[in-house]
Amino acid sequence: MTLDTTGLNRRMIHFDDHETIWLFGYGSLIWKADFPFIERRSAHIQGWVRRFWQGSHDHRGTPEAPGRVVTLVRKPEAVCHGMAYLITPEILEPLDVREKNGYLREVTRLYFDTLADDGGDERDSVEGLVYLATEDNAAFLGDAPLEAIAEQIAQAQGPSGHNRDYLLNLASALRQLRVEDDHVFSLAEQMPQAPLPEMPR
Ligand code: SIN
Repeated sequence: MTLDTTGLNRRMIHFDDHETIWLFGYGSLIWKADFPFIERRSAHIQGWVRRFWQGSHDHRGTPEAPGRVVTLVRKPEAVCHGMAYLITPEILEPLDVREKNGYLREVTRLYFDTLADDGGDERDSVEGLVYLATEDNAAFLGDAPLEAIAEQIAQAQGPSGHNRDYLLNLASALRQLRVEDDHVFSLAEQMPQAPLPEMPR
């Protein structure tokens, strides 16, 4: 059922002639930076909120029992905090594969919350990229009562691990960044305290 967006993203060439690109992460890209980056700075984007409305059939669930991961939903006046990474364009290739379950690269203006490490870059905003899963993608699940979303996350697991870990890692990373996110924190509070079952090998 999943639509693989890897091919669509390869055709997005906005920054192909740039030596470096700023990528904004708001979900697993905040806490799982398993790709090389030159610099990382906390940042935010405007007009979006983070929601567990995207289905995960490949990482935190299966086609039969999808999990839920975050995407961004338009909300004027809202601010979504996350992490910006300065990367070289070839890093997008493995990221397109990682984000293939419905996410498309979109251009966004991102606003830095902190100064550059070396103090050299004094810009407070730049054009960058974000992986966005819009409501017309095949894996989009949309809104549901919070308890139902929590239940689905508590149950789901996939090749990348338990869906619950994705949620709890995100909540913990947001707390470290001192970011308030009622949607994420309310879901995290509803996770059962019992130890997680072993992942099948
Ligand atoms: C992101 O983290 O920016 C995209 C969604 C995800 O991979 O969790």
